Amino acid sequence: MSVGVEVLDHDHMALVGMVNTLFDGIQSGQGKDALGKILDDLLEYTTGHFKREEDLFAQAGYPEAAEHTARHEALRAQVLEIRRMYLAGATPTLSLDVMNFLKRWLVDHIQGSDRKYGPFLNAKGIR
Ligand SMILES: [Fe+2]
Ligand SMILES: [Fe+2]
Repeated sequence: MSVGVEVLDHDHMALVGMVNTLFDGIQSGQGKDALGKILDDLLEYTTGHFKREEDLFAQAGYPEAAEHTARHEALRAQVLEIRRMYLAGATPTLSLDVMNFLKRWLVDHIQGSDRKYGPFLNAKGIR
């Protein structure tokens, strides 16, 4: 799953780990506070990760930065909405559908959009 940039590979591993932690928390029946906390952590880490990628795009002059950033914004909005509904009690539990959506999005994004910037950033000396 490597994108060829060490700090971003590290982020991706951490993100997949956090999604798995959320999965485990749901399946072991953890309460709203615990799951809400994991969702908060995921959102915060995702926001930081997206910014790290976008800063590197700016630094390197990556031509697909705008399109890539729009995908980040879309996911962030979706995670915010999931969290809002969950905390408001509209969704009593985080469904496996929601989790499957998140996990698929994350893996697809890393293996698709993210992998595309690797060679470009590497050519600008970013590894
Ligand atoms: Fe990424
Ligand atoms: Fe990305």
